[in-house]
Amino acid sequence: MVGKICALLLVALFGLSGRVEAQECVADSVQNITLSAYHLLSWEVGEDQPCVITQFLIYIYQRNKPIEYSFEVNGNENEVDVSFLEVCQDWIFNIIPVSNHTRGHEHHFYASVPLPWHADLSIAYINVTRNGVTGDLHLSWDITDARLGSCTIRYRLTIEEDESPDIHDLYLSERSVNMHFLSPCTKYQIGVRAINIAHPTIEGPIRSRYYDFPAAKQIPPRLESVEQGVTTINMTWELEPKQRNRCEVKEFQVYGGTFFNVSAIYDDKPERVHVNLSVDHLKPSSMYYMRASVQNSAGWSDATIAAIQTLDLSPDGQIKKLS
Ligand SMILES: *[C@@H]1O[C@H](CO)[C@@H](O)[C@H](O)[C@H]1NC(C)=O
Ligand SMILES: *[C@@H]1O[C@H](CO)[C@@H](O)[C@H](O)[C@H]1NC(C)=O
Ligand SMILES: *[C@@H]1O[C@H](CO)[C@@H](O)[C@H](O)[C@H]1NC(C)=O
Ligand SMILES: *[C@@H]1O[C@H](CO)[C@@H](O)[C@H](O)[C@H]1NC(C)=O
Ligand SMILES: *[C@@H]1O[C@H](CO)[C@@H](O)[C@H](O)[C@H]1NC(C)=O
Ligand SMILES: *[C@@H]1O[C@H](CO)[C@@H](O)[C@H](O)[C@H]1NC(C)=O
Repeated sequence: MVGKICALLLVALFGLSGRVEAQECVADSVQNITLSAYHLLSWEVGEDQPCVITQFLIYIYQRNKPIEYSFEVNGNENEVDVSFLEVCQDWIFNIIPVSNHTRGHEHHFYASVPLPWHADLSIAYINVTRNGVTGDLHLSWDITDARLGSCTIRYRLTIEEDESPDIHDLYLSERSVNMHFLSPCTKYQIGVRAINIAHPTIEGPIRSRYYDFPAAKQIPPRLESVEQGVTTINMTWELEPKQRNRCEVKEFQVYGGTFFNVSAIYDDKPERVHVNLSVDHLKPSSMYYMRASVQNSAGWSDATIAAIQTLDLSPDGQIKKLS
Protein backbone atom coordinates (compact mmCIF):
# COMPACT_ATOMS: atom_id res chain seq x y z
CA MET A 1 0.00 0.00 0.00
CA VAL A 2 2.77 2.43 0.96
CA GLY A 3 4.64 1.38 -2.22
CA LYS A 4 1.59 2.17 -4.35
CA ILE A 5 1.25 5.66 -2.81
CA CYS A 6 4.92 6.30 -3.42
CA ALA A 7 4.55 5.31 -7.05
CA LEU A 8 1.57 7.63 -7.49
CA LEU A 9 3.49 10.43 -5.81
CA LEU A 10 6.42 9.85 -8.17
CA VAL A 11 4.12 9.93 -11.18
CA ALA A 12 2.57 13.13 -9.87
CA LEU A 13 6.04 14.66 -9.33
CA PHE A 14 7.17 13.64 -12.80
CA GLY A 15 3.98 14.98 -14.28
CA LEU A 16 4.55 18.27 -12.51
CA SER A 17 8.18 18.59 -13.49
CA GLY A 18 7.18 17.72 -17.08
CA ARG A 19 4.68 20.56 -17.05
CA VAL A 20 7.26 22.95 -15.60
CA GLU A 21 9.62 22.04 -18.46
CA ALA A 22 6.89 22.68 -21.00
CA GLN A 23 6.30 26.10 -19.52
CA GLU A 24 10.03 26.96 -19.66
CA CYS A 25 10.90 25.33 -22.92
CA VAL A 26 13.93 27.08 -24.45
CA ALA A 27 13.47 26.92 -28.21
CA ASP A 28 16.32 25.99 -30.53
CA SER A 29 17.56 28.71 -32.83
CA VAL A 30 15.92 29.06 -36.24
CA GLN A 31 17.63 27.74 -39.39
CA ASN A 32 18.19 28.65 -43.01
CA ILE A 33 17.77 32.39 -42.71
CA THR A 34 17.65 34.06 -46.10
CA LEU A 35 17.16 37.57 -47.33
CA SER A 36 15.66 37.28 -50.78
CA ALA A 37 15.69 39.49 -53.84
CA TYR A 38 12.04 40.22 -52.88
CA HIS A 39 13.41 41.67 -49.64
CA LEU A 40 11.73 39.08 -47.49
CA LEU A 41 13.66 37.91 -44.47
CA SER A 42 12.69 34.28 -43.93
CA TRP A 43 13.70 31.44 -41.65
CA GLU A 44 12.81 27.86 -40.85
CA VAL A 45 12.16 25.95 -37.66
CA GLY A 46 13.98 22.67 -37.35
CA GLU A 47 11.95 19.46 -37.39
CA ASP A 48 13.37 18.45 -34.01
CA GLN A 49 12.41 21.75 -32.37
CA PRO A 50 11.44 20.76 -28.78
CA CYS A 51 9.18 23.74 -28.08
CA VAL A 52 5.93 25.18 -29.32
CA ILE A 53 6.98 28.56 -30.64
CA THR A 54 4.51 31.31 -29.84
CA GLN A 55 6.34 34.29 -31.35
CA PHE A 56 9.50 35.36 -33.11
CA LEU A 57 11.37 38.49 -32.12
CA ILE A 58 13.35 40.11 -34.90
CA TYR A 59 15.95 42.77 -34.18
CA ILE A 60 17.69 44.61 -36.98
CA TYR A 61 20.74 46.74 -36.30
CA GLN A 62 24.13 47.71 -37.63
CA ARG A 63 27.43 46.66 -36.18
CA ASN A 64 28.21 48.47 -32.92
CA LYS A 65 24.92 50.37 -33.09
CA PRO A 66 21.75 50.07 -31.01
CA ILE A 67 18.76 48.12 -32.34
CA GLU A 68 17.17 50.14 -35.11
CA TYR A 69 14.11 48.03 -35.96
CA SER A 70 12.31 45.35 -33.98
CA PHE A 71 9.40 43.12 -34.88
CA GLU A 72 7.30 40.57 -33.13
CA VAL A 73 5.53 38.07 -35.36
CA ASN A 74 3.33 35.08 -34.66
CA GLY A 75 4.91 31.70 -34.09
CA ASN A 76 3.27 30.33 -37.23
CA GLU A 77 4.84 32.93 -39.52
CA ASN A 78 8.27 32.56 -41.03
CA GLU A 79 9.02 35.78 -42.88
CA VAL A 80 8.95 39.55 -42.63
CA ASP A 81 9.13 42.22 -45.30
CA VAL A 82 12.27 44.32 -44.92
CA SER A 83 11.95 46.29 -48.14
CA PHE A 84 12.23 49.50 -46.13
CA LEU A 85 15.96 48.83 -45.69
CA GLU A 86 18.37 50.52 -48.04
CA VAL A 87 19.79 48.28 -50.76
CA CYS A 88 23.44 47.29 -50.34
CA GLN A 89 23.58 48.29 -46.67
CA ASP A 90 25.00 45.77 -44.22
CA TRP A 91 22.78 44.69 -41.35
CA ILE A 92 22.67 42.19 -38.54
CA PHE A 93 19.37 40.33 -38.31
CA ASN A 94 18.81 38.65 -34.96
CA ILE A 95 15.91 36.19 -34.88
CA ILE A 96 14.80 34.85 -31.50
CA PRO A 97 12.10 32.18 -31.13
CA VAL A 98 9.89 32.66 -28.08
CA SER A 99 8.06 29.80 -26.44
CA ASN A 100 5.41 30.97 -24.00
CA HIS A 101 7.41 34.02 -22.77
CA THR A 102 10.67 32.11 -22.69
CA ARG A 103 13.28 33.37 -25.13
CA GLY A 104 14.96 30.70 -27.15
CA HIS A 105 18.40 30.63 -28.71
CA GLU A 106 19.33 33.49 -30.99
CA HIS A 107 20.48 33.33 -34.56
CA HIS A 108 22.48 36.29 -35.87
CA PHE A 109 22.48 36.71 -39.62
CA TYR A 110 24.93 39.16 -41.18
CA ALA A 111 23.84 40.24 -44.61
CA SER A 112 23.86 42.99 -47.14
CA VAL A 113 20.45 43.91 -48.54
CA PRO A 114 20.62 42.44 -52.07
CA LEU A 115 19.63 44.24 -55.22
CA PRO A 116 15.91 43.73 -55.77
CA TRP A 117 14.55 41.22 -58.29
CA HIS A 118 13.54 44.04 -60.64
CA ALA A 119 16.96 45.73 -60.70
CA ASP A 120 18.10 46.57 -64.22
CA LEU A 121 20.97 44.19 -64.97
CA SER A 122 21.60 45.27 -68.53
CA ILE A 123 25.18 46.03 -69.50
CA ALA A 124 25.68 49.52 -70.90
CA TYR A 125 28.93 48.98 -72.80
CA ILE A 126 32.00 46.80 -73.19
CA ASN A 127 35.23 48.69 -73.74
CA VAL A 128 38.39 47.05 -75.00
CA THR A 129 41.75 48.80 -74.81
CA ARG A 130 45.22 47.44 -75.41
CA ASN A 131 48.03 48.07 -72.98
CA GLY A 132 50.81 49.55 -75.10
CA VAL A 133 53.53 48.15 -72.84
CA THR A 134 52.42 44.60 -72.04
CA GLY A 135 50.22 44.12 -75.10
CA ASP A 136 47.47 42.75 -72.85
CA LEU A 137 43.86 43.58 -73.55
CA HIS A 138 41.97 45.46 -70.88
CA LEU A 139 38.22 44.85 -70.86
CA SER A 140 35.83 47.04 -68.91
CA TRP A 141 32.06 47.34 -68.70
CA ASP A 142 29.31 48.58 -66.44
CA ILE A 143 25.64 48.10 -65.80
CA THR A 144 23.29 50.66 -67.32
CA ASP A 145 21.73 51.74 -64.04
CA ALA A 146 24.05 51.71 -61.03
CA ARG A 147 21.87 53.90 -58.82
CA LEU A 148 21.05 51.03 -56.49
CA GLY A 149 24.67 49.94 -56.26
CA SER A 150 26.17 46.64 -57.30
CA CYS A 151 26.90 44.81 -54.02
CA THR A 152 25.28 41.52 -55.06
CA ILE A 153 26.24 41.73 -58.73
CA ARG A 154 28.78 39.41 -60.28
CA TYR A 155 29.75 39.42 -63.91
CA ARG A 156 30.11 36.54 -66.29
CA LEU A 157 32.55 37.16 -69.09
CA THR A 158 32.52 34.82 -72.07
CA ILE A 159 35.15 34.99 -74.78
CA GLU A 160 34.87 32.93 -77.92
CA GLU A 161 37.46 32.77 -80.61
CA ASP A 162 36.50 33.07 -84.22
CA GLU A 163 36.94 29.72 -85.97
CA SER A 164 37.84 27.96 -82.74
CA PRO A 165 35.65 25.86 -80.48
CA ASP A 166 37.50 27.18 -77.41
CA ILE A 167 35.46 29.23 -74.95
CA HIS A 168 36.79 31.17 -71.99
CA ASP A 169 34.26 31.75 -69.21
CA LEU A 170 35.06 33.85 -66.16
CA TYR A 171 33.07 34.90 -63.11
CA LEU A 172 34.20 38.25 -61.79
CA SER A 173 33.16 40.69 -59.12
CA GLU A 174 35.14 43.54 -60.68
CA ARG A 175 33.94 45.57 -63.64
CA SER A 176 37.18 45.13 -65.56
CA VAL A 177 39.82 42.51 -66.25
CA ASN A 178 43.21 42.19 -67.91
CA MET A 179 43.32 39.41 -70.48
CA HIS A 180 46.81 38.07 -71.05
CA PHE A 181 45.86 34.96 -73.04
CA LEU A 182 44.37 36.62 -76.10
CA SER A 183 46.40 36.99 -79.24
CA PRO A 184 46.76 39.69 -81.89
CA CYS A 185 45.51 38.80 -85.38
CA THR A 186 42.50 36.98 -83.89
CA LYS A 187 38.82 37.85 -83.85
CA TYR A 188 36.94 37.46 -80.60
CA GLN A 189 33.31 37.52 -79.59
CA ILE A 190 33.10 39.04 -76.11
CA GLY A 191 29.97 38.66 -73.99
CA VAL A 192 29.21 40.10 -70.56
CA ARG A 193 26.18 39.54 -68.39
CA ALA A 194 25.42 40.73 -64.86
CA ILE A 195 24.12 38.29 -62.27
CA ASN A 196 22.31 39.29 -59.10
CA ILE A 197 23.50 36.62 -56.66
CA ALA A 198 20.53 37.13 -54.32
CA HIS A 199 17.92 34.39 -53.69
CA PRO A 200 16.79 33.53 -56.25
CA THR A 201 19.77 34.25 -58.50
CA ILE A 202 18.79 36.45 -61.42
CA GLU A 203 20.75 36.61 -64.67
CA GLY A 204 20.69 39.78 -66.73
CA PRO A 205 20.71 39.87 -70.53
CA ILE A 206 24.00 39.27 -72.31
CA ARG A 207 25.69 42.08 -74.17
CA SER A 208 28.06 41.06 -76.92
CA ARG A 209 30.60 42.68 -79.18
CA TYR A 210 33.22 41.63 -81.65
CA TYR A 211 36.82 42.52 -81.20
CA ASP A 212 39.29 42.12 -84.00
CA PHE A 213 42.61 42.12 -82.16
CA PRO A 214 44.85 44.08 -84.55
CA ALA A 215 48.23 42.82 -85.69
CA ALA A 216 51.08 43.45 -83.27
CA LYS A 217 54.80 43.15 -83.82
CA GLN A 218 56.72 40.29 -82.29
CA ILE A 219 58.61 41.01 -79.09
CA PRO A 220 62.39 41.11 -79.76
CA PRO A 221 63.72 37.59 -80.39
CA ARG A 222 65.65 35.83 -77.66
CA LEU A 223 69.05 34.25 -78.26
CA GLU A 224 68.45 30.69 -77.17
CA SER A 225 71.89 29.19 -77.85
CA VAL A 226 75.17 29.94 -79.62
CA GLU A 227 77.86 27.72 -81.09
CA GLN A 228 81.08 29.60 -81.71
CA GLY A 229 83.63 28.51 -84.34
CA VAL A 230 86.87 30.10 -85.47
CA THR A 231 85.23 31.73 -88.47
CA THR A 232 81.58 30.83 -87.90
CA ILE A 233 78.85 31.52 -85.42
CA ASN A 234 75.74 29.32 -85.27
CA MET A 235 72.79 30.78 -83.44
CA THR A 236 69.39 29.59 -82.38
CA TRP A 237 66.79 32.29 -81.81
CA GLU A 238 63.48 31.90 -80.02
CA LEU A 239 60.42 33.79 -81.22
CA GLU A 240 57.30 34.86 -79.38
CA PRO A 241 55.11 31.73 -79.35
CA LYS A 242 51.83 31.32 -81.22
CA GLN A 243 49.73 31.46 -78.04
CA ARG A 244 50.95 35.02 -77.42
CA ASN A 245 51.04 36.27 -80.98
CA ARG A 246 49.41 34.52 -83.91
CA CYS A 247 50.35 37.09 -86.51
CA GLU A 248 52.23 35.35 -89.28
CA VAL A 249 56.03 35.54 -89.01
CA LYS A 250 57.63 36.21 -92.38
CA GLU A 251 61.32 36.85 -92.04
CA PHE A 252 64.19 36.84 -89.60
CA GLN A 253 67.30 38.94 -89.84
CA VAL A 254 70.61 39.32 -88.05
CA TYR A 255 72.49 42.45 -89.06
CA GLY A 256 76.19 42.65 -88.17
CA GLY A 257 76.94 46.11 -89.56
CA THR A 258 79.56 46.09 -92.32
CA PHE A 259 80.55 42.48 -91.50
CA PHE A 260 77.43 40.54 -92.32
CA ASN A 261 73.70 40.71 -92.85
CA VAL A 262 71.93 37.38 -92.90
CA SER A 263 68.24 36.90 -93.22
CA ALA A 264 65.95 33.93 -93.57
CA ILE A 265 62.44 33.59 -94.88
CA TYR A 266 60.37 32.07 -92.10
CA ASP A 267 57.74 29.46 -92.81
CA ASP A 268 55.26 29.94 -89.94
CA LYS A 269 53.94 26.49 -89.02
CA PRO A 270 51.17 25.82 -86.47
CA GLU A 271 53.91 25.14 -83.93
CA ARG A 272 56.38 28.02 -84.05
CA VAL A 273 59.95 26.66 -84.13
CA HIS A 274 63.27 28.30 -83.31
CA VAL A 275 65.28 30.01 -86.04
CA ASN A 276 68.72 28.57 -86.81
CA LEU A 277 71.14 30.97 -88.47
CA SER A 278 74.74 30.57 -89.41
CA VAL A 279 77.26 33.35 -90.12
CA ASP A 280 80.58 32.50 -91.72
CA HIS A 281 83.69 34.08 -93.24
CA LEU A 282 84.38 35.76 -89.92
CA LYS A 283 87.79 36.54 -88.44
CA PRO A 284 89.11 34.40 -85.58
CA SER A 285 89.17 35.80 -82.08
CA SER A 286 86.96 38.77 -82.91
CA MET A 287 83.96 40.19 -81.20
CA TYR A 288 80.92 40.74 -83.40
CA TYR A 289 77.97 42.91 -82.49
CA MET A 290 74.66 42.22 -84.11
CA ARG A 291 71.01 43.22 -84.08
CA ALA A 292 68.43 40.47 -84.49
CA SER A 293 64.82 41.20 -85.38
CA VAL A 294 61.81 39.39 -86.72
CA GLN A 295 59.17 40.52 -89.18
CA ASN A 296 55.52 39.59 -89.04
CA SER A 297 52.34 41.00 -90.54
CA ALA A 298 52.66 44.06 -88.27
CA GLY A 299 56.24 44.83 -89.30
CA TRP A 300 59.71 44.42 -87.89
CA SER A 301 60.12 43.86 -84.18
CA ASP A 302 62.46 45.85 -81.99
CA ALA A 303 65.96 44.39 -82.18
CA THR A 304 67.83 42.27 -79.69
CA ILE A 305 71.49 43.23 -79.52
CA ALA A 306 74.03 40.46 -79.06
CA ALA A 307 77.82 40.39 -78.88
CA ILE A 308 79.52 37.10 -79.80
CA GLN A 309 83.21 36.32 -80.09
CA THR A 310 84.76 33.85 -82.53
CA LEU A 311 87.30 31.32 -81.27
CA ASP A 312 91.09 31.64 -81.28
CA LEU A 313 93.04 29.71 -83.84
CA SER A 314 95.99 28.56 -81.68
CA PRO A 315 99.45 28.05 -83.26
CA ASP A 316 99.09 24.26 -83.31
CA GLY A 317 95.88 24.57 -85.31
CA GLN A 318 93.69 23.49 -82.37
CA ILE A 319 90.54 25.35 -81.55
CA LYS A 320 90.60 26.99 -78.16
CA LYS A 321 87.26 27.66 -76.57
CA LEU A 322 86.97 31.13 -75.12
CA SER A 323 85.13 31.51 -71.88
C1 LIG B 1 2.01 28.81 -21.28
O1 LIG B 1 2.03 29.22 -19.91
C2 LIG B 1 0.78 29.23 -19.27
C3 LIG B 1 0.96 29.74 -17.86
O2 LIG B 1 1.86 30.86 -17.86
C4 LIG B 1 0.18 27.85 -19.28
O3 LIG B 1 -1.11 27.90 -18.76
C5 LIG B 1 0.14 27.31 -20.72
O4 LIG B 1 -0.29 25.98 -20.71
C6 LIG B 1 1.51 27.39 -21.37
N1 LIG B 1 1.41 26.98 -22.74
C7 LIG B 1 2.32 26.18 -23.32
C8 LIG B 1 2.08 25.88 -24.78
O5 LIG B 1 3.28 25.73 -22.75
C1 LIG C 1 17.62 24.08 -44.54
O1 LIG C 1 18.04 23.94 -45.91
C2 LIG C 1 18.59 22.69 -46.20
C3 LIG C 1 19.08 22.74 -47.60
O2 LIG C 1 18.25 23.47 -48.44
C4 LIG C 1 17.56 21.60 -45.98
O3 LIG C 1 18.16 20.36 -46.26
C5 LIG C 1 17.07 21.66 -44.57
O4 LIG C 1 16.04 20.73 -44.41
C6 LIG C 1 16.55 23.03 -44.23
N1 LIG C 1 16.22 23.11 -42.84
C7 LIG C 1 14.99 23.31 -42.43
C8 LIG C 1 14.81 23.39 -40.97
O5 LIG C 1 14.07 23.43 -43.21
C1 LIG D 1 34.27 53.36 -73.44
O1 LIG D 1 34.55 53.65 -74.80
C2 LIG D 1 33.82 54.72 -75.28
C3 LIG D 1 34.10 54.85 -76.76
O2 LIG D 1 35.37 54.40 -77.08
C4 LIG D 1 34.22 56.00 -74.54
O3 LIG D 1 33.48 57.08 -74.99
C5 LIG D 1 33.95 55.77 -73.06
O4 LIG D 1 34.42 56.88 -72.32
C6 LIG D 1 34.62 54.53 -72.55
N1 LIG D 1 34.18 54.31 -71.22
C7 LIG D 1 35.00 53.98 -70.23
C8 LIG D 1 34.37 53.82 -68.89
O5 LIG D 1 36.19 53.81 -70.39
C1 LIG E 1 77.26 25.25 -87.53
O1 LIG E 1 76.30 24.42 -88.16
C2 LIG E 1 76.82 23.68 -89.26
C3 LIG E 1 75.71 22.87 -89.86
O2 LIG E 1 74.50 23.59 -89.81
C4 LIG E 1 77.95 22.75 -88.79
O3 LIG E 1 78.50 22.11 -89.86
C5 LIG E 1 79.00 23.56 -88.05
O4 LIG E 1 79.94 22.69 -87.49
C6 LIG E 1 78.39 24.41 -86.97
N1 LIG E 1 79.41 25.25 -86.37
C7 LIG E 1 79.69 25.25 -85.10
C8 LIG E 1 80.72 26.19 -84.63
O5 LIG E 1 79.10 24.51 -84.29
C1 LIG F 1 69.89 43.02 -94.88
O1 LIG F 1 69.56 42.30 -96.05
C2 LIG F 1 68.19 42.36 -96.42
C3 LIG F 1 68.00 41.52 -97.66
O2 LIG F 1 68.48 40.27 -97.46
C4 LIG F 1 67.78 43.78 -96.67
O3 LIG F 1 66.38 43.82 -96.94
C5 LIG F 1 68.06 44.62 -95.43
O4 LIG F 1 67.76 45.97 -95.68
C6 LIG F 1 69.52 44.49 -95.04
N1 LIG F 1 69.72 45.19 -93.79
C7 LIG F 1 70.54 46.19 -93.63
C8 LIG F 1 70.55 46.85 -92.30
O5 LIG F 1 71.27 46.55 -94.53
C1 LIG G 1 66.45 24.83 -85.29
O1 LIG G 1 67.09 23.87 -84.47
C2 LIG G 1 66.26 23.35 -83.43
C3 LIG G 1 67.11 22.41 -82.62
O2 LIG G 1 68.28 23.01 -82.23
C4 LIG G 1 65.05 22.68 -84.00
O3 LIG G 1 64.22 22.25 -82.97
C5 LIG G 1 64.30 23.63 -84.90
O4 LIG G 1 63.24 22.97 -85.54
C6 LIG G 1 65.24 24.22 -85.95
N1 LIG G 1 64.51 25.23 -86.72
C7 LIG G 1 64.25 25.10 -88.01
C8 LIG G 1 63.48 26.23 -88.63
O5 LIG G 1 64.62 24.13 -88.68
